Amino acid sequence: MREFNIAVIPGDGIGKEVIPEGIKALEAATAAFGIQLTFTWFDWSCETYHQTGKMMPDNGLEILKTFDAIYLGAVGFPGVPDHISLWGLLLPIRREFDQYVNLRPVRLFEGLASPLANKAPGDIDFYVVRENVEGEYSNIGGVQYPGSDNEVVVQQSVFTRKGTDRIIKYAFELAQQRDKHLSSATKSNGLYHSMPYWDSRVEAISADYPEVNVDHFHIDIFCANLVRMPEFYDVIVGSNLFGDILSDLGPACTGTIAIAPSANINPDKTFPSMFEPVHGSAPDIAGQNIANPIGTVWAGAMMLQHLGCDDVHDVMMAAIEEVIQRQESLTRDMGGIASTQELGDAIVAAIGNHR
Ligand code: NAD
Ligand code: IPM
Ligand code: MN
Repeated sequence: MREFNIAVIPGDGIGKEVIPEGIKALEAATAAFGIQLTFTWFDWSCETYHQTGKMMPDNGLEILKTFDAIYLGAVGFPGVPDHISLWGLLLPIRREFDQYVNLRPVRLFEGLASPLANKAPGDIDFYVVRENVEGEYSNIGGVQYPGSDNEVVVQQSVFTRKGTDRIIKYAFELAQQRDKHLSSATKSNGLYHSMPYWDSRVEAISADYPEVNVDHFHIDIFCANLVRMPEFYDVIVGSNLFGDILSDLGPACTGTIAIAPSANINPDKTFPSMFEPVHGSAPDIAGQNIANPIGTVWAGAMMLQHLGCDDVHDVMMAAIEEVIQRQESLTRDMGGIASTQELGDAIVAAIGNHR
């Protein structure tokens, strides 16, 4: 029997609502394959911060290290500044566990309407490969002459050779397995040091992948092109910030950001990887039982794939496709009226059809 220990961090807001639906789907899908998942729940969140002054205990990462994977809902809620909550929980996990690949598939499903005119399933089908542990996301910098007229705030970006090369190589490898087309997000016209360096590394590494077609777009026109002609893209590689932006824009073009999954992968498997929806805690709809759990279910499918259970992944994806195509039990963001749990139940029922 295959057995895995999963750390579950529902986190804040709708994270607490969508994670139970993801677990329902994972349990339904694994049961038929004789896979045993043991879930250990951690209530680390902004509520923890209010009670203890910390988002997770001091030994939180030590605790998480022992698990096969981490399944996370969302982090951040009004009442705690976002940079405090995120740098107290989500970002340390990504960084300390060297989850340097953030893999974010974007796909238009049969049954969902794209807000873009005349786009059909198949027209939107790409991956965002996002650098996940360095780049623009840094706590290096600070304020000088605070409170004075000369106040200056500096925010540093960090692009290491190792960190830049490994994410670009990962994207080339993925492009090689797909349509052999890699698009790099840059801004080497405005950012004087980091982005020309990024471009030079893409250029250098491309020599090892002669069969992959490479193009570069500045992030501004990249966003415009993604909306104008999403069918052009196959694999996109971007820095931490640019990858973040493109991985909300992409799913928005598929009808709703709420179906999008995010795999924070440590390819070396020296630490656990983490799986979560792309979306956040959605304070505007939290507590209403209307959040769409599909991004979380899809992230769960990616988790099982990462753990070597392609069979379970495929069943979960077939169930998601079926439920969306039937257009029953969809939540409001997809034009339906179902609750979070009703959609979760529909996915579980569809899993039963595909096992
Ligand atoms: P958000 O993704 O939480 O919400 C953006 C919009 O999308 C909202 O209108 C929300 O209602 C809607 N939405 C999001 N998920 C949905 C779902 N599953 N079903 C239906 N509608 C959904 O982004 P935000 O408002 O910028 O951020 C809110 C908080 O979440 C902030 O504290 C932010 O820092 C945090 N955040 C955390 C993560 C994460 O944990 N990975 C990701 C993004 C934002
Ligand atoms: C995401 C989120 C996070 C990020 C925030 C909450 C720090 O937007 O997972 O996409 O920027 O990585
Ligand atoms: Mn984001």
